[in-house]
Amino acid sequence: MISTSILNSFNFLADKISAKRKIFLTTSLNYIDRKHDFACSGFDYVRYATLELLSYEISEKKIGGSLAELGVYKGEFAKWINKCFPDKKLFLFDTFDGFDERDVANEINNDFSKASSKKEFSNTSVNEVMAKMFYPENVIVKQGFFPETARDVNDTFCLVSLDADLYDPIYNGLSFFYPKLSHGGYILIHDYNNDTYKGSKNAVIDFCKKYEINFIPIPDTAGTAIITRP
Ligand SMILES: C[S@@+](CC[C@H](N)C(=O)[O-])C[C@H]1O[C@@H](n2cnc3c(N)ncnc32)[C@H](O)[C@@H]1O
Repeated sequence: MISTSILNSFNFLADKISAKRKIFLTTSLNYIDRKHDFACSGFDYVRYATLELLSYEISEKKIGGSLAELGVYKGEFAKWINKCFPDKKLFLFDTFDGFDERDVANEINNDFSKASSKKEFSNTSVNEVMAKMFYPENVIVKQGFFPETARDVNDTFCLVSLDADLYDPIYNGLSFFYPKLSHGGYILIHDYNNDTYKGSKNAVIDFCKKYEINFIPIPDTAGTAIITRP
């Protein structure tokens, strides 16, 4: 029989080698009864597992309100938001044509990123996104420039994903959604700790400083920050 000290040494070495290669293995929430099986979660385990856990919190606490994502692109994250909440309305905001030059100008002037309005993220469509949805009847697409597309939206929200990469849409997204966030609701801001898109972090810091709001950074692939409302 292999002794415990040999096994511990093996685990210690395996941990060191995999960490050096940036390979992280973890048990997959196997201590709870999971309702969703995210086939894609291996690509960004922390991001998707966090969404799943927040959906359980919202459901257990019966937090009311709709869902939204600003920055949808091909709908890869939006489809899992949709799957986690079979009974909630989901607003999807995107130009579906990439960044808008009004946002890019501020980005370049402040050296936040090298974003370009020359059709980055434009290879998508509303039809492509809708075809991925598990409950398409719950989805309301708001195509065009945010915040203009939000003018007629008066819902409250229990979970919002802001993934528009740039300072202006992230700041405008926080300004629009935070006052509409249900108590106990969540806003996930993608790219908070992503040096490629520094506008996201700057927008979160400016907004949260102005309104004295706290947030939690999580170690997913793009360094999401999470705001909740007391
Ligand atoms: C990184 S992609 C979103 C990725 C997606 N959330 C995912 O996880 O697969 C960023 C998206 O934000 C959108 N976007 C950026 N600024 C916007 C604005 N002001 N209004 C509408 N859409 C915007 C872009 O068109 C692009 O599709």
